Amino acid sequence: MLIAIKQTWEDIYVTRVITYGTFDLFHEGHYRLLRRAKQLGDYLIVGVTTEEYDRKRGKLNVIDSLITRIENVKKTGFADEIIIEEAAGQKFRDIQKYKIDIFTVGSDWVGQFDYLRDYCKVIYLERTKNISSTMLRAQSKRIQRIGIIGTGRIADRFIPEAKLVSGVSTQGVYNPHAESALRFAEKWEINAYKNVEDFYAAIDAVYIASPHETHYPYIKSALEHEKHVLCEKPMVLEKSQAEEIFSYAKQKKLVLLEAIKTAYCPGFANLLGIACSGIIGSIRNIEACFTKLENPGSRELTDLRYGGSFTELGSYVILPIIKLFGKDYEQLLFHSINNKDGIDIFTKASFQYPNGIATATCGVGVKSEGRLLISGTKGYIVAEAPWWKTTYFEVHYEDAEKIEKFSDRFLGDGLRYEISDFLSMINGSSKNDFKLTRGESAAMAGIMETFLKENRNYENMGS
Ligand code: CTP
Repeated sequence: MLIAIKQTWEDIYVTRVITYGTFDLFHEGHYRLLRRAKQLGDYLIVGVTTEEYDRKRGKLNVIDSLITRIENVKKTGFADEIIIEEAAGQKFRDIQKYKIDIFTVGSDWVGQFDYLRDYCKVIYLERTKNISSTMLRAQSKRIQRIGIIGTGRIADRFIPEAKLVSGVSTQGVYNPHAESALRFAEKWEINAYKNVEDFYAAIDAVYIASPHETHYPYIKSALEHEKHVLCEKPMVLEKSQAEEIFSYAKQKKLVLLEAIKTAYCPGFANLLGIACSGIIGSIRNIEACFTKLENPGSRELTDLRYGGSFTELGSYVILPIIKLFGKDYEQLLFHSINNKDGIDIFTKASFQYPNGIATATCGVGVKSEGRLLISGTKGYIVAEAPWWKTTYFEVHYEDAEKIEKFSDRFLGDGLRYEISDFLSMINGSSKNDFKLTRGESAAMAGIMETFLKENRNYENMGS
């Protein structure tokens, strides 16, 4: 009974205020916001965002850990209670759950939370001028100047995505075909470099998006010039090359990362986590398929040495297999449909592992259903196309009515996630390359090497 009376008393006399934020690199703007929020009532609840939620909503490169950010909010002495904000839509639920009278945030959010007015008062407090976490992040670490090698489609996508990651700036482009470099530089208002030495002198890190076979020499020369490297997939086409450049990068204390965008996107990480959690039992079968029809005159369908479906899309379809089953397969068989020039337009790679089997299917001249299927002893996970930009997947069980659904955001072209991880590794805030380890990249290079040896008849091609 006493509790009921207390609740009634609290409901009437205590004004409960709630506010939310990331509170990264805690600054004066945060302090002033919390002080004024506390003054609005008697009891202040502060919601602090998780890293995962921030990534999902596109806030990349948060530097402080959740614990540090909570500690900093606590130190102000204004918060009576601190909660974790981990999902969109949570504010609406919290307001009801915590019987909130006033919701408040800074004026940068004006209008965005008016939908909560049906439930409580909404107050936008004036934001403190000339200070933000974004500003401090940019100051705390030197801006990484990135140079691009190559001017193809993917390089076009890189620039707008890089703009969304604080702490990097795209400085310029290098392409031995000066004309292409100039056109690209004009389009994106960056510098074009004819001389590779001038290019390296102007940058801290390089993004390699040139034809596959040029990756290896460019990576080596970038590392020799003390530049960190983010390289498009397939990074290299031979395992020994991968091992050599990773060991060289390590020796030089430089970051070398293979850019397979799927590996860095939040939805795919969630899918792997669920797959490994045991809810589908032991994983026994993986089927991954990705097809993309290309024009007859395209590089993919005309490059006798390095064109074809497997070099183009193989990295995507072998990624979930390597991530979940590992690098130690017992057998690997390729079956391909080649065009008249001997370029594979459709390839199926079949893996045999000690406790499982897998197929990786890709096509540039045959269309199929793009799907990722992971089968276990208790159930299976299915993600439909475009699963390589994972936004949604389902978990199914023997009981056909029991379906669990998971969704995530995949923003824009998704390169922002790999750029953000690349930057975190350069800045030392993330030392771990667990999303795609060196060993996994090297194993994937080994698979490419085996495929090319089996599929291409180099002797008939000349040098
Ligand atoms: N805030 C403020 N004045 C500032 C910066 C932030 O009043 N100069 C407020 C925000 O409006 C928000 C709260 O502090 O209500 C937490 O903001 P947060 O997004 O964590 O901080 P920012 O500095 O805005 O972070 P970022 O630059 O990453 O967006």
